[in-house]
Amino acid sequence: MAHEIIVVHGNGTLAGDVHISGAKNSALKLMAASILAQGETIVRNVPLISDIDVMSEVLECLGATVARDEADEHVLLIDTSAVDSFETPYELVSKMRASIAVLGPLIARFGRARVAMPGGCQIGARKIDMHLRGLEALGVSFEIDHGYLKAAAENGLHGASVALDFPSVGATENMLMAAVVAEGETIIGNAAREPEIVDLANMLNEMGAKVRDAGSSIIRVEGVPLESLKPCDHATIGDRIEAGTFLVGGALTGGPVTVRGINPSFLRMAIAKFREMGCTVEEGADFVTVARTEPLRPVEIQTLPHPGFPTDLQAQFMLLAACAEGTSVITENVFENRFMFAAELARMGADIEIEDHHSLVRGGRSLQGAPVSSTDLRAGAALVLAGIVAEGETRVHKINHIDRGYEDYVGKLKALGADVSRELPYHNHRATVFVEADR
Ligand code: EPZ
Repeated sequence: MAHEIIVVHGNGTLAGDVHISGAKNSALKLMAASILAQGETIVRNVPLISDIDVMSEVLECLGATVARDEADEHVLLIDTSAVDSFETPYELVSKMRASIAVLGPLIARFGRARVAMPGGCQIGARKIDMHLRGLEALGVSFEIDHGYLKAAAENGLHGASVALDFPSVGATENMLMAAVVAEGETIIGNAAREPEIVDLANMLNEMGAKVRDAGSSIIRVEGVPLESLKPCDHATIGDRIEAGTFLVGGALTGGPVTVRGINPSFLRMAIAKFREMGCTVEEGADFVTVARTEPLRPVEIQTLPHPGFPTDLQAQFMLLAACAEGTSVITENVFENRFMFAAELARMGADIEIEDHHSLVRGGRSLQGAPVSSTDLRAGAALVLAGIVAEGETRVHKINHIDRGYEDYVGKLKALGADVSRELPYHNHRATVFVEADR
């Protein structure tokens, strides 16, 4: 509901099992990939979050139909038979930058696309120059047309050997989804290696594409005819960032917290850091458990492209560091402005100094509940966790950020024992009271 807030009372409790939803940062691209094949594609284990709803609107705007299976609303049925447009409107792209993921598939299917330029966001400029340069190498030409990106592959798509300046997740994905129908072989050098890239490549191969070595820095694609790509039935991998967020809750409170439905190999660096900070970590085929009996130890973290430490867990670990005994250094190497969380945590009593892309986190202080605001979805999730270990009440505003990427975050935290709820802010209640009184 609009303008709701999350109210947390610090009771220091998070313990038990939580089932992890499908990965937002994979499902959005799997949905875009469905454009490549005419017919009904089934994507399973799709989280119930607002970003998925926006991507569904984007696909419907293109002429597809998107429905949730009545038997299981985590299953999306996407029929792209009637897709007849290659244009995505500003109103949708500006709601969610990840809509740019339809660029590659639209060019592959129609040889052209007209996509609103995605804006930046709180954490950075979020440029797409590498997407464009990579697609240009495959034969695409671009021009800016009144805020829209007009793309055309006048002579069709042809394979190429391309090296990305930075292992951009989005650029790798857009190139992959165009290269699958490019004439000949494409080699993507310095490709992103995230598990979500592997998930997308697996789905493309299930559709009839020929992608090799996804998950490594050099991905090879043998182009196939567009019409040879068929709809498929694919299950999204578990969300490693949601899992890591709940495991941080276990590390903060002592836990034990077990996340189920996740491949532990997706969390190698986070698991290493939990252990470095004094937690015990147990791993199974599809679960990870984090517990702690010792005081948290300080840590050094450098966020890097996978398999380095994930930038999407940076805020959550900054909170851990703020509760550790000693001084930690956390360096953000992926986004240029992803320390806004520090200012909000400081309102709760944390002592954090920012110097360029380094943060010095002096731990050992207990946190006090306070009114705070989410600046991005990961910071928002971390603020709620902070409220669980803080003294008193924390009111987290702008929780629409959290709803973009966390399915039933409050419900899952409640099931682990947290005293947390979604509420309308006080002033709304007053308005209701006055209206009632007037009657
Ligand atoms: C994806 O964003 C994720 N989003 C992000 O998750 C995640 O933080 C990021 O990958 C890194 O892992 C989705 O998958 C929807 P990038 P993406 O291209 O693809 C710069 C979350 O919290 N860059 O790897 O946009 C860019 O500005 C979100 O779930 C260029 O300069 O990430 C950034 O600084 C946040 N030019 C860096 O590279 C380009 O053409 C990494 O961006 C592309 C990127």
